[in-house]
Amino acid sequence: MTKSRFNLLRVVALFSMAGTSLFTLISQVDTQYEFRNPILEKKPPRLHAAPMRILTGLQPSGKLHIGNFFGAMEPAIRLQSQGDAYYFIANYHAMTSLHDGPALLANTHELAVDFLACGLDPGKAVFFRQSDVPEVNELAWILSTVCPMGLLERCHSFKDKVAKGIAANHALFAYPVLMAADILLYDSNLVPVGKDQKQHLEVTRDLAVKVNEALGEGALTVPDALIRDDTAVVPGVDGQKMSKSYGNTIPLFGEEKQLRKLMMKIVSDSTPVEDPKPTENSTILGLYKLFASEADYQTMVQSFLQGGAGYGSYKTQLWESYWNYFAPMRQRREEILADPGYVDEVLNQGALRARETASKVLTRIRKATGLSR
Ligand code: ADP
Ligand code: TRP
Repeated sequence: MTKSRFNLLRVVALFSMAGTSLFTLISQVDTQYEFRNPILEKKPPRLHAAPMRILTGLQPSGKLHIGNFFGAMEPAIRLQSQGDAYYFIANYHAMTSLHDGPALLANTHELAVDFLACGLDPGKAVFFRQSDVPEVNELAWILSTVCPMGLLERCHSFKDKVAKGIAANHALFAYPVLMAADILLYDSNLVPVGKDQKQHLEVTRDLAVKVNEALGEGALTVPDALIRDDTAVVPGVDGQKMSKSYGNTIPLFGEEKQLRKLMMKIVSDSTPVEDPKPTENSTILGLYKLFASEADYQTMVQSFLQGGAGYGSYKTQLWESYWNYFAPMRQRREEILADPGYVDEVLNQGALRARETASKVLTRIRKATGLSR
């Protein structure tokens, strides 16, 4: 059995012990997972086999929202005690859409605060800024030399951005190559992301295989994406996929009144109060499922089917479940904000550790390519 397959089976075994919802790995392995109140729960048991390396990145391109949380952050936080975790702030990537230095700096800091508040534990995970490991650009260049144009031309994310009128600069086109370098530079095994990143993970795997064909098996580790089926696409207030670029997000943190107002704007239909309500594709139910217990969720489903209650009352329930869910994270956030040097200290420490790992992999690749002896 290859090392990567062995790791996959370990993850499957781990999550089958842990709970009830579903994950999909790119290789179509399903596994079980429970995710209530991450920073309050008991830790799952540690496995004693060789550590699996888990890595993910988030762009500091705006306020974090619940799609980011359930798609990438929460799975990453959950996994941080199950292996060697490397989590970073993709500030080079954010530059494909943001050219405002003070804003990039502020967003980077805010993302770090929020990720830590949500439960990222710097004692377990290496947490760093992408730009503190500039070696990633060298690996991106090396990967570019084996990357067919067609592979990038087919990427939905690039095509979608261009269709939305974003100027197609070279960085936007080469975005998946830098992302592949992010992943491959740390010999990552598992990458927790939302479904929209699946194709980028396929590009990463393709590039790793091409490099291995050219330089020899084992030059790079071929990673797997970890995509949760039940939160693969979190809907936004308008019912479409929640995304910063669609302006339909529900942020993780913000001012209570404003957030409540936003929640009340969630799309519903014009079914009269007394009539049964459609449950299929309901944005209210889709979001409530993320926060409520299974029993409370089923109670709301039954109430939809029976009729007699208006959408306003469901939105109020949704609001309460969301607000309570993030209460411990809000408190932690206040504590972090009260300690001004803490975040930079965490990120600077993380940079040192990340760089150490990265330089080992890069040295191996430099030798194999003939860039150095
Ligand atoms: P956005 O689309 O808002 O710009 P990003 O592209 O920065 O979000 O995504 C950061 C991470 O969050 C990625 O792993 C992505 O897959 C995940 N993610 C973003 N939106 C959603 C969503 N609506 N549902 C599930 N995961 C999501
Ligand atoms: N492209 C990812 C996103 O938009 C961010 C990202 C950059 C990333 N590099 C990565 C995610 C490496 C996982 C692994 O969300």
